[in-house]
Amino acid sequence: MDRVGIIGVGMTKFGERWKKGLRDLIAEAGLKTIQDANITGDKIDAIYGGSMSAGRFVGQEHIGAVIADSMGLNPIPSSRVEAACASGGLALREAYLSIKGGEYNVVVAGGVEKMTDSCTEEASLTLGGAGDQEWEVFNGATFPGLYALIARRHMHEYGTTEEQMAEVSVKNHANAAKNPLAQFQFEVSREQVMKSPKVADPLKLLDCSPITDGAAATVLASEEVAKEYCDDPVWIDASAQATDSLAVHDRKSITGLNAAKVATEKVFKKSSYDRSEIDLAEVHDCFSIAELCALEDMGFVKKGEAGKAMEEGRFNLNAELPINTSGGLKGCGHPVGATGIKQAIEITKQLRGEAGKRQVDEAEVGLTHNVGGSGATAILHILSGGR
Ligand code: COA
Repeated sequence: MDRVGIIGVGMTKFGERWKKGLRDLIAEAGLKTIQDANITGDKIDAIYGGSMSAGRFVGQEHIGAVIADSMGLNPIPSSRVEAACASGGLALREAYLSIKGGEYNVVVAGGVEKMTDSCTEEASLTLGGAGDQEWEVFNGATFPGLYALIARRHMHEYGTTEEQMAEVSVKNHANAAKNPLAQFQFEVSREQVMKSPKVADPLKLLDCSPITDGAAATVLASEEVAKEYCDDPVWIDASAQATDSLAVHDRKSITGLNAAKVATEKVFKKSSYDRSEIDLAEVHDCFSIAELCALEDMGFVKKGEAGKAMEEGRFNLNAELPINTSGGLKGCGHPVGATGIKQAIEITKQLRGEAGKRQVDEAEVGLTHNVGGSGATAILHILSGGR
């Protein structure tokens, strides 16, 4: 069956973009990706855009139409997709499936969120909507609080330490410092993480991803069209998605995310690559503990051993398996609807050899791991360059 290639990528700088509105962010990322693909609007068949909650963050609904309108792409069919913080990953997957199914040849997959117009309290409540409203949010649970429960249980069962979690942030900030589009382009030390203010014990400020504005977009094409427009497309080798309970308390175990485990099994079953062939990955480090769980859920380390492996530097840039070379959600920022697309953009840039100071040597196969809420949705993609 025909492959699907990524022929264009573009994103805004992530951060507190006070002077840019939702439409400005969409237009900037959209224009960049279309220019990068070297394609004209009349060749685009459809748009899928991820946004978690533009209605609550900035009062704007009907995001599918807003995206086409802001990009000057009317009357192309344009749909918003939503899976909380995995909305971007879902947009990529829906775009991929629409080409794979033969309906379209060229599709834009993007994501956007304009979060900093809300104060932290409002943003926390809006983000909380991705959890269980009746049982978690109503009783005061926030996302930092839910991930703190996961961290405590992981510490209890496997002896994971706060210092080991801090190393996730140290690594991701070091990578973000090399990324000109990242929100936080500075390094932090383990001591700084450990001394940062407590948000939800044991998670501190520097264990948390921030509140961010940003947009990101890709152009996907069928194999024939991809080869016409691009000498070296990055191929979407496999895509998989899985679901779990909304509420953390409904799960048999909370030291990992079952949806991520199931999606991992599926994605490798579909892929022409196995784990040992993955050269780098972008994983969903919304909180430092989440990256440790992700590495265990995907089987890159044995259960309970991610903290120790992180401390040994095994996931640093140009180490055994570089993780979150973009800076991850922690350092690059987390505009929730855009994150899944940013992950695919980072892997694409790495596979094209365009990642600048954070380039991974001989990167050929990369993976993205995008999670919605506290793990109710997980979406994984494997991307490959060259062959
Ligand atoms: N990491 C590093 N620095 C951060 C930060 C973070 N996560 N969040 C804020 N800052 C910095 C700001 O840049 C600011 O620095 P400055 O004074 O030099 O300008 C300072 O800390 C205060 O920022 P402020 O926005 O007032 O912080 P806050 O206390 O209101 O919010 C959090 C901090 C951690 C509560 C907030 O970022 C948060 O809720 N993060 C989690 C988001 C989330 O749940 N996402 C979904 C995941 S599933």
